[in-house]
Amino acid sequence: MDLTEQQRKMLEGECGEGAALAMKIQVAIGRSFGAKRMVPITRAHVALSNQEADLWFAEKLLSAGAKCKVQPTVNPGFSLAYFEKAASLPDEARSLMQRTHNAYKELGAVLSYNCTPYLGSNIPRFGEIAAFSESSATPFVNSVWGARSNRESAQSALCAAVTGFVPEYGLLLDENRLGNILVEVKADMKSDFEYQLLGYMGKKIGTGVPVFTGLPENISQEALMNLGAQLNTSGAYGMFHVVGVTPEARTLEQAFGGKKPLRKVVITNDDLRDILNVISEPGMRKIDFAMFGCPHFTLKQVQEIAGMVRGKKLAVEMWILTSSYVREMADRMGLLKIINDAGGHVVEDTCCDQPCWPHLNGKTGVTESPKCAYYTRRRGMSFVVRDLRTCVEAALKGEVE
Ligand code: F3S
Repeated sequence: MDLTEQQRKMLEGECGEGAALAMKIQVAIGRSFGAKRMVPITRAHVALSNQEADLWFAEKLLSAGAKCKVQPTVNPGFSLAYFEKAASLPDEARSLMQRTHNAYKELGAVLSYNCTPYLGSNIPRFGEIAAFSESSATPFVNSVWGARSNRESAQSALCAAVTGFVPEYGLLLDENRLGNILVEVKADMKSDFEYQLLGYMGKKIGTGVPVFTGLPENISQEALMNLGAQLNTSGAYGMFHVVGVTPEARTLEQAFGGKKPLRKVVITNDDLRDILNVISEPGMRKIDFAMFGCPHFTLKQVQEIAGMVRGKKLAVEMWILTSSYVREMADRMGLLKIINDAGGHVVEDTCCDQPCWPHLNGKTGVTESPKCAYYTRRRGMSFVVRDLRTCVEAALKGEVE
């Protein structure tokens, strides 16, 4: 790979041992993908997982003196301030979160603890080269904003933030951004929930860059967020095209670069119903809790729940996960009070797949997110997956249809 003098010096340790280690990893990644050079980035997002392996890597870079040149935003762990009040928080969980916080603070990250940075704190412009990890973030910045990022891991995104460069391969190159699978959607896309199910069709869609047709006009940001998040739960997709939404897919022809798709996939109502049966526990049962915000809920979604629970009392615990910005706006707008008065919690900085939920181990909840249902299995939670309205009604009654 051709390195500039600056990049070569960094690799040889002139900018410190930490930067050299990060550059060494990136050069190895670049070589394995046949990259010819390294290019500068202007943005990064690190999907820190607040797990031992992730922390080991961050602390390793830190002890080698690394500092972020491009300050990345970071994914949620859990809110220590909120969960420290809960008697059930295990000591090791508290210590893990504190160490993660300290490491990323020292590395110079922006401690946003939010998995939808592309909607608020870290929005790239068209064509901007970035290093984004996080399942919904990478496809959103590529497919909706038209920025250029590979599907980075938390570690490679952190390396990019430290060096300020990424190897140029994959979705950074025009030819790899073209669509190659035609996905004709014949299902009724009535609400944002159907995009959760459409995204969970990764097995049927297969490997490649899908081009979705047949979707309604004026598709919401939340629907696009859901689509990307679930595509990367059921498969691995750095980019998709929605004709008329993706800046590089104004027309079907442009989406495919004038070439024929490798294959065509048709998605029907039956497909969505079948996949729901795969990811969801059976309904018609009592539930113990409700959890929303995987990915983190937008203000519009928090507002929707507030509208449904205003003046009522929830029969079970309700957790709404969101960014600190959205929580603050919800507070200012009186939504937080409405939800708190009903008995619900709106929590910032927190992910459903974290060690802060031991009290939900062995319990069954409702969620509108297949990703939430999938990742929390290892935390001992199980979920009935339904659309948001049905879930909120279930939380008010304590049972789901
Ligand atoms: Fe966000 Fe955690 Fe879900 S990072 S997308 S809440 S698994």
